[in-house]
Amino acid sequence: MLHYTRIAAYLSLVGPSVILAATISSTPAQTILGIGGSGAWWPHDLFRFPEATRQNLSNLLFSQDGMGLSSYRWNVGAGGVGVSNPVRAPETFYLGPGNYNWSADPQGVYFLTEASKRGVTDLTMFANSAPAPLTSGKTSCGSNFVTGSGDAYGTFLADVVEHFRNAGPNIRFISPINEPDSDFGPVPCGQEGMKVVSTQRAEVVNGLWNALNRKGLATTVGILADESNNLGSASSEYKNWLPQVIDKVAALVHHTYDFPSDASYTSYISSTKATFPNKQTWMSEICCSLGNADGSGRGWSQGYDPTIKNALMFSGLIFQSFIVAGEPHYDFWTLVSNGLGCSPLNNAACVNNPNSNGWNDGLIYYDGAYATNRNFQLYLTKRFWTYKHFGNFIKPGSQRHAITGTGATNNMIAVSTSSKYFVVAMNPTNSATSLTLTFPENVCGVASYRTSASEDFAHLGAATKSGSNWVLPLNAMSLTTYEFNRAAC
Ligand SMILES: *[C@@H]1O[C@H](CO)[C@@H](O)[C@H](O)[C@H]1NC(C)=O
Ligand SMILES: *[C@@H]1O[C@H](CO)[C@@H](O)[C@H](O)[C@H]1NC(C)=O
Repeated sequence: MLHYTRIAAYLSLVGPSVILAATISSTPAQTILGIGGSGAWWPHDLFRFPEATRQNLSNLLFSQDGMGLSSYRWNVGAGGVGVSNPVRAPETFYLGPGNYNWSADPQGVYFLTEASKRGVTDLTMFANSAPAPLTSGKTSCGSNFVTGSGDAYGTFLADVVEHFRNAGPNIRFISPINEPDSDFGPVPCGQEGMKVVSTQRAEVVNGLWNALNRKGLATTVGILADESNNLGSASSEYKNWLPQVIDKVAALVHHTYDFPSDASYTSYISSTKATFPNKQTWMSEICCSLGNADGSGRGWSQGYDPTIKNALMFSGLIFQSFIVAGEPHYDFWTLVSNGLGCSPLNNAACVNNPNSNGWNDGLIYYDGAYATNRNFQLYLTKRFWTYKHFGNFIKPGSQRHAITGTGATNNMIAVSTSSKYFVVAMNPTNSATSLTLTFPENVCGVASYRTSASEDFAHLGAATKSGSNWVLPLNAMSLTTYEFNRAAC
């Protein structure tokens, strides 16, 4: 943030044509694993939309013509017992021990299958609660994990994943406890949730690992934990469960609802690395913030803002996880939402303007009254268009390279593949600028893509060469991707 304040002050003195210089390191930093989000709870509604719209939505999420996401988190339902909002009450496969209804949750299975068909590589099954019959109150929210039920719960999860892997979707990860510090109660609740106190979490992981191991899946399907709501609770509770099961956890996944400063994120990363070396941490859930393009004023709150201001604010959070924290994986929360906070059939323009009634929990929106008014439109926010830059160009297997120099900020990322470099950079200020970039090898500019107040992923010209460097214009309030071939022009 400080950096941009300085640049902005500088720009206001010298005008908009200032050129900042930076260098891309030849040494790779982390390898990217995935970018995506979750299938909660919109599949319940979108499954009822016309097939052409369901296909369009699947393309908008999972195809390169859309966002090209490489990660999708399918929510395995707990039956919704005690949940008052039917949209947030996914069906469960569980009928009893070893007894399953494989026809349940056609909604979730549909979009899981569409993601798989479109080549989404990181498929995760995550649970907000164990099936109601296994919890302390026999509900899917407002209940606790029952000590001693780890084997039964693990067997359920492993059976479901085995069934659907055999049916097609290559589910690679299971996250058995989502935000385990809360039960999301009391009944009637707004969503599913099961409290799993930190000293119970090792039992959950052991039960699941043993069930996977019995099926020969323990090395194929990774266990993700513990999806703490924020970095503070994640790190303060690790000592109560993680040392017992560290070798059975594929990655430590956390949410960032504390909207951490760079300093506290860095401190989480370094203390986690010091205690649990070689264990990756992933960012697996975030939504619902207002605030400014430069990141000031962010924090969890109600409010709908579909504009470039909010899209850049969220882009800043993605840059923070990849660059400041060096994490390899990033997921937004619900991807698709009915939290428009307005009725587009009464006021068609309302979907494009901020309001205080809606929520910034989606990238794509739909009319929550579709069942009665038959409005099956999908509405794209600027968050959709900026996330498309990350989904389209920051692909699994690509390697991040640090950008250094006086013009470098934490709002630009460079990645390489075997044949390309991509530089995704944002300018959250009101003044245009230009970045002069030195590459570690010969490259040739191919094209650029820009999202701003007036442009949605506009396909534009390549960066231009200046001596042995490349000049990348960064318009005011925009996110731009520059594409380069790894070869001389
Ligand atoms: C299985 O799930 C389907 C789909 O929701 C439902 O129609 C059916 O009644 C369920 N069967 C049982 C035995 O619960
Ligand atoms: C898909 O939905 C988007 C957003 O509403 C719309 O712009 C586009 O035309 C739709 N495409 C198809 C093929 O229906």
